[in-house]
Amino acid sequence: MMSTELQAEIATLASQTEGPFYFYSLSGIQQTWQRLRERFPSDLEILYSAKANSHPEILKTLLTLGAAVDVASLGELNAARDAGFTAKRIEFTGPGKTPSELRAAIEVGVDTLVVESIQELELIESIASQLGKLVSVSLRIHPARYITNSGRLLEGEPSQFGIDEDLLPTVAAIHKSCQHVQIRGTHTHSQSNVLSADDVIQNFTFALEAALRLQRLLGVKLETVNLGGGFGIPYFDGHAPLDLTRVGDGFDALKRRTDMQSELASARFRIELGRYLVAESGFFVTKVLYTKESQGKHYAILNGGFTQCQLACGAGQVIRRNFQISVIQKTVSANTRRTQLAGPSCYSQDIIASDVGLPTLSPGDLVCVHNVGAYGYSFSPVGFLRQAPAAEYLV
Ligand SMILES: Cc1ncc(COP(=O)(O)O)c(C=O)c1O
Repeated sequence: MMSTELQAEIATLASQTEGPFYFYSLSGIQQTWQRLRERFPSDLEILYSAKANSHPEILKTLLTLGAAVDVASLGELNAARDAGFTAKRIEFTGPGKTPSELRAAIEVGVDTLVVESIQELELIESIASQLGKLVSVSLRIHPARYITNSGRLLEGEPSQFGIDEDLLPTVAAIHKSCQHVQIRGTHTHSQSNVLSADDVIQNFTFALEAALRLQRLLGVKLETVNLGGGFGIPYFDGHAPLDLTRVGDGFDALKRRTDMQSELASARFRIELGRYLVAESGFFVTKVLYTKESQGKHYAILNGGFTQCQLACGAGQVIRRNFQISVIQKTVSANTRRTQLAGPSCYSQDIIASDVGLPTLSPGDLVCVHNVGAYGYSFSPVGFLRQAPAAEYLV
């Protein structure tokens, strides 16, 4: 739950802000980073996926901590550079990079340009030839097998991301005729929000085996192997946190495999994390505007919801579940009741939490949604109703 200091800080900000807001703790991000660094060898590079939250101060914090950054659009590329990331610490992914995004990435000289289709490889060859450059790229491989975040092994599943592992021989043949592009790395990200350490390691294993396969086909030593990540957050009741020690041990064991030792010894390994780094350090704070009853159910209508925090309203969930909620009340109510927390819009799914046991709420009380530092602000449809986006504060 929330400390009294945090509650006081949030209450002060709320008294100065009319609308809903996000509140991020930079020290929380630092602690998470520290935890990761303690569990993994220092030569494992950790990239931050800016799509999770590209607030300039969060980018700067992760830069200072030693992260490289994964961007997925020109906007994120510019945000990363503005925050101080040099081109050598930038990776550019995404299945639909436009010609101008590719040109910008090549001109800037990003360290890792990740190719996600054969046509993109050919386009990069053509742009690099026009610019008279030799461009090193990484190939995003869609692995033939991977474990989903619900623990299912999928084989031969289609995807818009990356290039199917089965197509690696074709890629290697096309690569031979490229004069301005050289594949020097691999990238794999098959799943997000995985809470099982064994499943994370299994996906790393599939990614490594695919990288080895590509290296053998290309006949050149890979310089980088990005294993992805997908480290999950225990958002809901009954979820246990990811066992990072077990992931770290599994990674060490993978690196000790003889084929890795003999063939990939010189490659730099990377992982790429978004939500794990920032989710738990962010709260969405919204105020109760009105309370009412309908057919025996208690509603609190809030000043923020779906348009500012789509994530808490069930986006991406198959079965909608409530995020963890804390309330801050001027007058603490001793009574609790099952409450529907509804956002202010005219959309029926604008529900921050459904049937949640809370102290009896009154107008002016604050509702804080936990674990929305990732994909909270960045993943919300602010165009809907032209409501103002949430403010963002950091401590
Ligand atoms: C290529 C790639 N890398 C990293 C991530 C970050 O995933 P997460 O925030 O779950 O760590 C994503 C998420 O969509 C992704 O597509």
